[in-house]
Amino acid sequence: MKSLITQGVRILGTGSAVPDLVINNHQMSEIVETSDKWIINRTGIKERRVLTGVNKSVVDIAYFAAIRALQQVGMNPLEIDLIILATSSPNDLFGSASQLQAKIGAYKAVAFDLTAACSGFVIGLVTATQFIQNGSYQNILVVGADVLSKWTDWSDRNTCILFGDGAGAVIMQACSVEKNSILGFQLNTDGQKYDQLSLRYREHINSSQNFQFFQGAFQYITMNGKEVYKFAVSKVPANILQCLDSLNISSGDVDWLLLHQANERILNAVADRLSIESNKLLSNLSKYGNTSAASIPLALDEAIQEKKILKDDIIVISGFGAGLTWGTIVIQWKC
Ligand code: UT7
Repeated sequence: MKSLITQGVRILGTGSAVPDLVINNHQMSEIVETSDKWIINRTGIKERRVLTGVNKSVVDIAYFAAIRALQQVGMNPLEIDLIILATSSPNDLFGSASQLQAKIGAYKAVAFDLTAACSGFVIGLVTATQFIQNGSYQNILVVGADVLSKWTDWSDRNTCILFGDGAGAVIMQACSVEKNSILGFQLNTDGQKYDQLSLRYREHINSSQNFQFFQGAFQYITMNGKEVYKFAVSKVPANILQCLDSLNISSGDVDWLLLHQANERILNAVADRLSIESNKLLSNLSKYGNTSAASIPLALDEAIQEKKILKDDIIVISGFGAGLTWGTIVIQWKC
């Protein structure tokens, strides 16, 4: 997809945050019938973080990730024009981004939530890129944050062993077109498979004397693991290849492959299909599990802190999950 580019985009800085409580696989086996061995063999996950505390929400961890990104680049929150909070676990269905705006003191920023589950952060990056490239905004904070522990059925071993809570943030800034670091993207949705992974709303009828009101509540996460697995290992590499082809970049030119951290076997299968060596795969799945919209910015921030990513490196970033949605964005690191 082509857009009118009046200015370039660069990623100025990153930040991340995870809650303190660690639950390892041995502790999971006290909650459901499972084992450390099964979880490691099938997923690569060793432990995950869970947000606890009265009234603690996605906003609290998004706040720390955002503040760390701002501190890293020495930016005053008042310089931010837009905040995009990619989350599927808000603490208010009208949106959590505005609370984040107030909490970090970014009073001049427009703020909205973006709901696209595990693809949310990639779609957030693409959305922010449009606002900068068309000249609308200069500085954008994109946060991927989720607290799926609040929506996990802790008696369902098919899902509860997978998820963890976390947040990651990036600050994107306008720059000259020559220095543009967002090379291209490719997004997809298959709504016909929405029920393979969902957090459904269930309705009941509330009858008063004259009317029937159809009201309800959201349930727990349900997932057809096998189908989602098959979808990920087939659609994600195809999507990445399509994106790379459109940019005339070969998979041999890729320095880093940063995939949504869902399952180590998925990461390896995608890298294999692209003939990308495993030492180019960024992974922190063993420590955090699947943190949904947070998984990519969390791993990106970690790789930046560890100084793995160097100037001019090409990073292929892909998110995939509920919707079903999947998408790739290709970045050349300029900072
Ligand atoms: O973020 C969105 C993207 N999400 C994903 O990408 C998830 C994709 N799916 C997966 O990662 C994998 O399908 C899972 C990790 C969820 C499951 O792995 P699997 O190799 O597909 O296992 P399975 O569902 O086929 O189950 C194999 C066996 C079953 O037992 P039987 O029927 O063979 O006797 C399950 O009941 O393993 C059993 N099982 C477990 N055993 C111990 C399922 N969950 C567990 C568990 N501990 N936690």
